[in-house]
Amino acid sequence: MTTDNTQKAARDALKDAWGDNTLAIRSGFERSQYGEHGEPIMTTSSYVFESAAEAAARFGGKSDGPIYSRFTNPTVQIFEHRLAAMEGGEACIGAASGMAATATLLLGTLKQGDEIVATRNMFGSTVNLFKNFLPRYGITVHWADGLDVVNWAPLVSDKTKLLYLETPTNPLTQLADISAFAELAHAHNAQLVVDNCFCTPALQKPLEHGADVVIHSATKYLDGQGRCVGGAVVGSAELIEKLTAFMRSAGPCMSPFNAWVFIKGLETLSLRMQKHSENAAFLAQWLNDHPKVAHVYYPGLDSHPDKALAMRQQKTFGGIFSMDLVGAREEAWRCIDAVGLCSITGNLGDARTTITHPATTTHGRITAEDRLASGIGEGLIRVAVGLEDVADIQADLEQALQAV
Ligand SMILES: Cc1ncc(COP(=O)(O)O)c(C=O)c1O
Repeated sequence: MTTDNTQKAARDALKDAWGDNTLAIRSGFERSQYGEHGEPIMTTSSYVFESAAEAAARFGGKSDGPIYSRFTNPTVQIFEHRLAAMEGGEACIGAASGMAATATLLLGTLKQGDEIVATRNMFGSTVNLFKNFLPRYGITVHWADGLDVVNWAPLVSDKTKLLYLETPTNPLTQLADISAFAELAHAHNAQLVVDNCFCTPALQKPLEHGADVVIHSATKYLDGQGRCVGGAVVGSAELIEKLTAFMRSAGPCMSPFNAWVFIKGLETLSLRMQKHSENAAFLAQWLNDHPKVAHVYYPGLDSHPDKALAMRQQKTFGGIFSMDLVGAREEAWRCIDAVGLCSITGNLGDARTTITHPATTTHGRITAEDRLASGIGEGLIRVAVGLEDVADIQADLEQALQAV
């Protein structure tokens, strides 16, 4: 046995007991014959076979190994294995964006006549995908009010295949009780899908609470520095096999370079999430008593209706809060226009604090009626708190609020 093989044997014996931080840094990667320490970026579209017979065996699924990077790329696979390990799922598939991950899940599993239940309290493009596109394929979406499982129950039937939600929601940080929703879904042989974008596995593991599928926009905290767009679905090996078949035919795949950026992001995810949360908790508390602010939405505040639930199913309260200013759109825009440090942009989960007016940007393309139903007002501002010195973010928001 070579030294490397000896180390691998020792590693394999330890792996099952690895904690979250070790999984985030070490899982999913075996060195090649070069002994590289860092995970390589495998930028190749296809792979060479030793013979026509070997090519046929690979394509036919009779021998293992990469075939074509639309559905088998070694760097993307490291990301997939690592995220699956962190979420506690059997398998994962990377996708070109968070929305591509959702579309892959829906189109790769549903068929005409199937039904899903969801709420309008979600990211705007998810609402639009469900509302404007799924009905064209004969898939019915039932819209529940908010995230109280009691309102969902009458909409779930034996035709229901998926219950789909975000917790906490974008942008109002509303929470869903994952285990209660899982119970409802399973009573009807349906699956519960949770978009875990706001918390990431560093703060919340939906599968441990009974969810069946986790969706990620890797664009956000998994990257953590606002560089790349990507997404992922985590679930059972059976589900991911189905989605891989869809990916092979339809092709909304993750690029190997982006996968490498996300792999590096995962290594520091836990540390970053703790700091994002710490900074956000401080600012939310401060703004809660601010005379220019009518209401702050943050699960860590005593005024948040789901603080106890957040303490039960999340490790900390997360890095994002929203606030209603005293006033409406004019006041919100004036505040946003006055910032000097925060970035005016639609993204979140960046090391840099970002400030957004959801009603006219991220949620601007859903109908006014849907916005109203989900509680997104014209005076609402979302702040995705970054990793800068919290005193500097506070000073920036204070002077911006004074401009209102
Ligand atoms: C909660 C949530 N889910 C999904 C998405 C979609 O991700 P992407 O932009 O990577 O397609 C977003 C994007 O903002 C989001 O906030």
